[in-house]
Amino acid sequence: MNGSIFINTEALEQTYLPRLLPYREEQHKYLAECIKPLFNRRSGTNLLITGAPGIGKTTCVRFILRKLMEETENIMPIYINCWKRDTSPKIINEIARLSDIKTLEKISSDELFDRIILRLNRYDGVVFAFDEIDRVKDFDFLYRILEDVSHKTIFLVTNLSEWVAKMDRRLISRLLLDRLEFKPYNYEETRGILYERRKYAFVPDCWDYDAFEIVIRKTFTSKDIRVGLFLMKNAGENAESRGSEKIEVKDVEKALKKLEDLPKDITNFV
Ligand SMILES: Nc1ncnc2c1ncn2[C@@H]1O[C@H](COP(=O)(O)OP(=O)(O)O)[C@@H](O)[C@H]1O
Ligand SMILES: [Mg+2]
Repeated sequence: MNGSIFINTEALEQTYLPRLLPYREEQHKYLAECIKPLFNRRSGTNLLITGAPGIGKTTCVRFILRKLMEETENIMPIYINCWKRDTSPKIINEIARLSDIKTLEKISSDELFDRIILRLNRYDGVVFAFDEIDRVKDFDFLYRILEDVSHKTIFLVTNLSEWVAKMDRRLISRLLLDRLEFKPYNYEETRGILYERRKYAFVPDCWDYDAFEIVIRKTFTSKDIRVGLFLMKNAGENAESRGSEKIEVKDVEKALKKLEDLPKDITNFV
């Protein structure tokens, strides 16, 4: 066999940010509207984004933050995954890092936050995106942001649509959250996304038609695009390890077995 059937395995990683975001134009537009007032030094609309795992919430948010960064230097995008950073001190440290604040001496979280505020309020506005917000153990950071950052839009993202009911009433009333619910992709949309990703990840014509149809079907019934990415990568590896230039049904079947052995939440495995 000559070389690999993969062109770019990165395109199969969950963290890969595609250049295009088909089927999420409406949501993209909604997020853009929430940010718009910042361009006139006014606060925007805060938004709670909900929906099942693997349907493009994180991607849509990161997509718009990237676009914003490409468009202007006057609005600061701050994206934080709260699964990794689940306490106020950890979140504040990360905001400091993203705002390029370096401290040689050891200072308290409060003091660090004061410096952050000074820095952030030099911008016309700040967009905060707190992804997997349901993992957060305390909300001090959010109270401070609400109080001290002059012009801001805050996105809170969660897979759990009921989660907001557990939040402190006081915080909810201060946030004045709008809500945006993401719905799972239909069959054709699922197919479109996976085909697009396939173009980036694999050499042309290496997929057997039926094999790829199984991937699409399984992804659609799982309602989680990450399942498709996992199957594509795994089936590709299976084909490679048997020295084949073609990914066939048996390679996908083997990948399906492996998928069954994974925990329900495959977040960390794709
Ligand atoms: N509309 C889309 N176009 C291209 N890729 C998408 C789209 N929606 C989701 N994906 C891909 O599916 C995977 C899961 O999406 P993600 O945004 O992490 O889901 P969520 O945050 O809702 O759990 C990511 O790899 C992402 O690139
Ligand atoms: Mg996500």
